[in-house]
Amino acid sequence: MERPEIIINVASSLDGVIASDKGALFLSTTEDWVRVHELRNSVDAILVGVNTIITDNPMLTIRYVKPKSPPPFRVILDSNGRIPLNSKVLKNQKVNKTLVFVSEKCSEEKKEEIAKSKTDVIAVSEDEKSGFLNLKSILEILKSKYNINKILVEGGSTIITQFLKNNLIDRMYVFYFPAFAGGINAKHLFSEKVIEDISTAPQLKITNIEELEEGFLVSLILDKR
Ligand SMILES: NC(=O)c1ccc[n+]([C@@H]2O[C@H](COP(=O)([O-])OP(=O)(O)OC[C@H]3O[C@@H](n4cnc5c(N)ncnc54)[C@H](OP(=O)(O)O)[C@@H]3O)[C@@H](O)[C@H]2O)c1
Repeated sequence: MERPEIIINVASSLDGVIASDKGALFLSTTEDWVRVHELRNSVDAILVGVNTIITDNPMLTIRYVKPKSPPPFRVILDSNGRIPLNSKVLKNQKVNKTLVFVSEKCSEEKKEEIAKSKTDVIAVSEDEKSGFLNLKSILEILKSKYNINKILVEGGSTIITQFLKNNLIDRMYVFYFPAFAGGINAKHLFSEKVIEDISTAPQLKITNIEELEEGFLVSLILDKR
């Protein structure tokens, strides 16, 4: 079965920082924020890692533009059920459905606690190499069980890194805010080394560069040659 289309979107400082050691840096401008919400409105699911939920507590809903009906699923990858039970993504399940993927090793108690919010809690195996939840199994479930054909991956670094390392990317948008953030403990676009050698690296091709207010947006595709 063909996997869903995967789009990665992220806002970065000029030196590749996406959050400080304390959390969100709010690097998007209003014009970029509207673009992101239009992008959210064009996909079937928005996916983030549990650390983004813990630090930023986002709603992952569509504002700024009229939301389609039904709105995209909200998908959280959370092996051990660390998601705080008062997270905004666990609210309002009648309209904005959330799917939380956990590990097969996650305790029944944790799964039941999360499921009380009417969220679907789905257990998958871990990837032998990375130790993280198996992305291919997750994508298969999203496609076959939930009919999800297009996913917007919004971060953070660890999630983006695993998608890129597994070549699970079709398009990527990086909005660069014109500031240097610095900081040894800051979160960078990638949480670990993604290339050993440029010749064997996943090749990205720039399809567009556009000014958005004071920042600029780089659009990329994975060059499958
Ligand atoms: N600037 C932006 O556009 C932007 C967007 C989003 C987030 N952020 C920032 O990113 C920061 C969080 O990034 P982060 O790297 O710490 O965490 P993250 O990517 O949000 O979440 C990573 C966690 O997700 C879980 N996970 C489960 N399966 C995974 C898989 N297959 N691949 C990767 N992770 C998996 C792991 O925790 P378990 O092992 O517990 O499952 C992992 O540690 C926040 O500070 C937030 O502000 C910035």
